[in-house]
Amino acid sequence: MIVVTGGAGFIGSNFILDWLAGSDEPVLNLDKLTYAGNAANLAALAGDARHVFVRGDIGDAPLLARLLAEYKPRAIINFAAESHVDRSIHGAEDFIATNIVGTFRLLEAARAYWMGLPEGEGARAAFRFLHVSTDEVYGSLAPVAPAFTERHPYEPNSPYSASKAASDHLVRAWHHTHGLPVLTTNCSNNYGPYQFPEKLIALMIVNALAGGPLPVYGDGQQVRDWLYVADHCSAIRRVLAAGRVGETYNIGGHNERANLDIVRVICDLLDECAPRADGGSYRAQITHVTDRPGHDRRYAIDARKIEHELGWRPAETFDTGIRKTVAWYLSHADWVRGVQSGAYRDWVATQYGA
Ligand code: NAD
Ligand code: DAU
Repeated sequence: MIVVTGGAGFIGSNFILDWLAGSDEPVLNLDKLTYAGNAANLAALAGDARHVFVRGDIGDAPLLARLLAEYKPRAIINFAAESHVDRSIHGAEDFIATNIVGTFRLLEAARAYWMGLPEGEGARAAFRFLHVSTDEVYGSLAPVAPAFTERHPYEPNSPYSASKAASDHLVRAWHHTHGLPVLTTNCSNNYGPYQFPEKLIALMIVNALAGGPLPVYGDGQQVRDWLYVADHCSAIRRVLAAGRVGETYNIGGHNERANLDIVRVICDLLDECAPRADGGSYRAQITHVTDRPGHDRRYAIDARKIEHELGWRPAETFDTGIRKTVAWYLSHADWVRGVQSGAYRDWVATQYGA
């Protein structure tokens, strides 16, 4: 059994679906079901005894103690977080509560559980706490600066990245001070199925199809390093299986692109796969809007450590991944409607209780 927190979110749900497609090891999914948590992402697992869903908060210490004692996992993978930079600018309270205090409570619960594991049977030595983090903790790169290595100083600029940086430091400290066997991954921007349409790629696809504006912040020349979500999931599985305890691993796909170029690629794919009724291009919907405050100009990941040490490689290029993503959104209009209408919340209530 492994515990996945935040498993109803974008990356967590992809991770659980991929995990159970390749393994019969059960997953306990602890998720608070915030606006970003969508249990319908896991509808394919309805009735599957290998997936145990618990609606709850990683900050709930008694709940954590009870779940760990009952399910006795060999690992905890912490995806749960408030994840959207723009929301952290408008209000950081939830980011502090979940990303910092929640991670602290999860670490404390994991430590108490791990210390109680029998040493003789190897369970204690085998236990892992894998913390899923972001490249945004490293701050912003100059246009020609080398990509982030694991030794790059932490220079977080947004309330979101500051809260993730704090959580990374807590994880590190719980290893160095208490010996908890931790692993940390710092990944670049993900895209793919089940992404909530507030993040750039999902938002642009959904807005374009709805005939709405495609809001590009500032000049649109900010650079992100894009990774297809299934590749992030395979990297996490690899780190969990073979990563060295106490180490951090950067994850990225060598896909640096300017935001405006991303939006244009999406428009061109939609022109090809779902042409506008009026025969015009979706590019006509691109609208430059006021820039994000404190907007980081460039992120780029140097992934040589995970590639050389653990033999991980991404399977998708940006061209193959974005084509799959656009095709997924085109064939999942119901999912998009559900997320936008809040219907999935009703579904959740009938499945798990409000
Ligand atoms: P998401 O916002 O789609 O999902 C977050 C999930 O966590 C949701 O299901 C939500 O209900 C749950 N959650 C929130 N607060 C909780 C709490 N207190 N207790 C339990 N569950 C809670 O996020 P995502 O994009 O899937 O990101 C997952 C993780 O990966 C985050 O830690 C994020 O920082 C990290 N990350 C994301 C990206 C990216 O591009 N999206 C890149 C690198 C790292
Ligand atoms: O780098 C990893 C991080 O990537 C993760 O840790 C975060 O959880 C995830 O949200 C993401 O952060 P970004 O801020 O880079 O992602 P977002 O999709 O919000 O924005 C990507 C870029 O596109 C960024 O430069 C801002 C810009 N943007 C975004 C939106 C939503 C726009 O120009 N217009 C938009 O409407």
